[in-house]
Amino acid sequence: MQMLALYSIKGGVGKTASAVNLAAEAALAGKRVLLWDLDPQAATTFYLKSKAKVRGGIDKLVKGKATLDKVIRATEIERLDLLPASFGSREMDRLLEGRKPSRLRKILKPINDDYDLVLLDCPPNLSALSDQVFSSIDALLVPVVPSTLSMRTLTLLREHLDGQDQPCPVWPFATLVDRRKRLHRDTLETLPEQWPLRLSATIPYASVIERMGVEQAPVASFARRTRAAQAYTALWEEVAGRLGNA
Ligand SMILES: Nc1ncnc2c1ncn2[C@@H]1O[C@H](COP(=O)(O)OP(=O)(O)OP(=O)(O)O)[C@@H](O)[C@H]1O
Ligand SMILES: [Mg+2]
Repeated sequence: MQMLALYSIKGGVGKTASAVNLAAEAALAGKRVLLWDLDPQAATTFYLKSKAKVRGGIDKLVKGKATLDKVIRATEIERLDLLPASFGSREMDRLLEGRKPSRLRKILKPINDDYDLVLLDCPPNLSALSDQVFSSIDALLVPVVPSTLSMRTLTLLREHLDGQDQPCPVWPFATLVDRRKRLHRDTLETLPEQWPLRLSATIPYASVIERMGVEQAPVASFARRTRAAQAYTALWEEVAGRLGNA
């Protein structure tokens, strides 16, 4: 079971859109996928038409005492399951405070053999939860809007991770890209030299991605032929290639 997280210190950069679309792409490609919504906003949970509720409560889940079969739900997409968020997920930070590293991976241990891939959708901050994410995963997928502030938060993230004991590979990729904008084009050109591990697939700014909220589904389910859906397929293929070599 490999674990990846969609993470950024910055809000509104496409973490949730990417988590849902990549999870769907992986499932369509034949992987057994679990998408874990760690954000109390529960946007991922909503996109997958699920109710924001964790049976038994977050407390039990963090302690490893939850019956995972009862917490995890199937989705409309074959091979894609969801571990939903709830409003109580805001307690996650407090409950994880002082815990040994890799807690999130430990929580999932009983279902290790049931999934090929776990994707985490994270809230945007540095906290006890994000430190647990960093220590639990195989790589961090960081959506970056090719603009000054977004690049700056990427550097902040690197500085934070450099100060930690455990290595955590950072794989940035560009989202909300508008190639008509000079700044976007210029910033995209500098990404490869500053971030050799960046993924080369880029996700365009596309209204079809905004429609995910209306359709409550990944783009692959309702707009398969669009450029945005194809960009997520390409991104998944690149990620899968790296995981295969991991
Ligand atoms: N490629 C895209 N093109 C157009 N709109 C997008 C794209 N990606 C995301 N969006 C829209 O931008 C908004 C923020 O996206 P999303 O919720 O995925 O970001 P986030 O990083 O998860 O935010 P948060 O930090 O609040 O969790 C949403 O309204 C979403 O529909
Ligand atoms: Mg989000």
